Amino acid sequence: MDFQLKTLSITQATTEKTDVLVVLVASAIGTSKDALSTLIAEARKAGDLPDKAGKLLSLYRPAGVAAPRVLLVSLGDGKPASVRTAVTAAIGAAKGSNPKRVCVVAAEALDAAGLGSAVIAAADASYVYGTTKSKAELRTIRQLSFGVTDAPPLRQAFDEAAATVAGIELAKEWANRPANYCTPTMLAGAAQELAKLPNVKCEVLGPKEVAKLGMGAFSAVAQGSAEPLRFIVLRYHGAPKSQAPVVLVGKGITFDTGGVSLKPAAEMDEMKFDMCGAASVLGVFRALGDLQPAINVVGLIPSCENMNDGRAVKPGDVVTSMAGQTIEVLNTDAEGRLILCDALTYAKRFEPAAVVDIATLTGACVIALGGVRSGLFSSDDALATALGAAGEAALDRCWRMPLDDDYAEGLKSNFADVANIAGRAGGAITAAKFLQRFTTDFPWAHLDIAGTAWKSGAAKGASGRPVGLLLNYLMTRSRQDVAKAAPRKVVKAAAKGRAKK
Ligand code: BES
Ligand code: MN
Ligand code: ZN
Repeated sequence: MDFQLKTLSITQATTEKTDVLVVLVASAIGTSKDALSTLIAEARKAGDLPDKAGKLLSLYRPAGVAAPRVLLVSLGDGKPASVRTAVTAAIGAAKGSNPKRVCVVAAEALDAAGLGSAVIAAADASYVYGTTKSKAELRTIRQLSFGVTDAPPLRQAFDEAAATVAGIELAKEWANRPANYCTPTMLAGAAQELAKLPNVKCEVLGPKEVAKLGMGAFSAVAQGSAEPLRFIVLRYHGAPKSQAPVVLVGKGITFDTGGVSLKPAAEMDEMKFDMCGAASVLGVFRALGDLQPAINVVGLIPSCENMNDGRAVKPGDVVTSMAGQTIEVLNTDAEGRLILCDALTYAKRFEPAAVVDIATLTGACVIALGGVRSGLFSSDDALATALGAAGEAALDRCWRMPLDDDYAEGLKSNFADVANIAGRAGGAITAAKFLQRFTTDFPWAHLDIAGTAWKSGAAKGASGRPVGLLLNYLMTRSRQDVAKAAPRKVVKAAAKGRAKK
């Protein structure tokens, strides 16, 4: 996809050569006398373009406008969420005529947040998955240009949004692939591809190395599959080595049958999405490679299949995690926490500033929060606040859930240090309580994306969430780190100066 940002007034947009011209119309409309402004004023007056986000008026070859198709779309209150609604509606309508070039022009000033949300929404609405279709189904829209009243001040926000789109689309691509096109080995290959980006490195461990590390919980999940497990370690170095990294841990179950505790057949295909956490980590690294922020990030992806087999782990089996804690596997379908606990233990060696795991962990989280907000669990208030704010800013929202120790009651086992399941009640929280046992050495947060990572039904497909949230968090953090580091440098220089005198 070719994204462009340019300075384009509404008057200039009348001569813009494009297949579809989308005009974003704010509540307060301008007073210019060009063809488009006149059309907008007349449509508003006649009640054909209500002032509500996403309301559309489709025009064909309007007089005095170069573009053959024009879509006027209302922005409502103009907030980023309304911009998203408007652009989603407009691109959805524009797709009908199979355009190659679409130009989105804002009749009034868009701020950085509004432009970012327009870019991400336009990409999302025009995304097409084609990898496993026999006739390559490509997205028809090849070029998306954004016209704003003054482009240069918005350049950084635009570039960040374009990089976020690249990350979201990489995450969607890997998440949407069926499990036979997305094995742990293939996922590791995708991570190794990312190591071509500047300052990105990748290391991949196999079953032997993982066993040697003592990752008995991860190994146990993988042992029922003919596909060998992979443990992927990605690193992005944008800051001095001395700066503690943020570690992202993504659940990478490329297919979850439930194992011996087999899942029901209905919708089991959707368990190919059980690696959406891993896909989001890949997406974040793709964007970091583009944006090169001043921050250090480590990505850890434990990846395997959860299969049923003569060698598969059985209910009641006790496994020993890398942390040394023994775990009674009461339900083999609670496999996500088993692979994550070993990855969380591995994270300790990076002496992280914060660890965030991202996982399609529980059906209970889907019941609790639906598909709107991801579940956020954290033992660290500052980290929870920062992730919550990043979610709001990126329109990739989460909601903090409790972690009272009382919720861990049901995880008690008569045969091991801990059981891998508690009762049905509060299932998303008890899963988080299980993970928390392995995170005592660093600030930690857990995002349960079971409800938000993909859509079911006719529009079945990955959402690319929470790449937007995570990138917003990391970019904000990198700017704060730079701001914090700067005065220190000044102080040093001043001290040096004094010493000379
Ligand atoms: N991958 C699933 C969680 C899931 C289920 C995500 C449905 C999205 C939709 C996870 O591995 C799982 O099976 N969890 C069990 C845990 C239970 C056995 C305690 C669940 O949620 O049913
Ligand atoms: Mn499962
Ligand atoms: Zn799972």
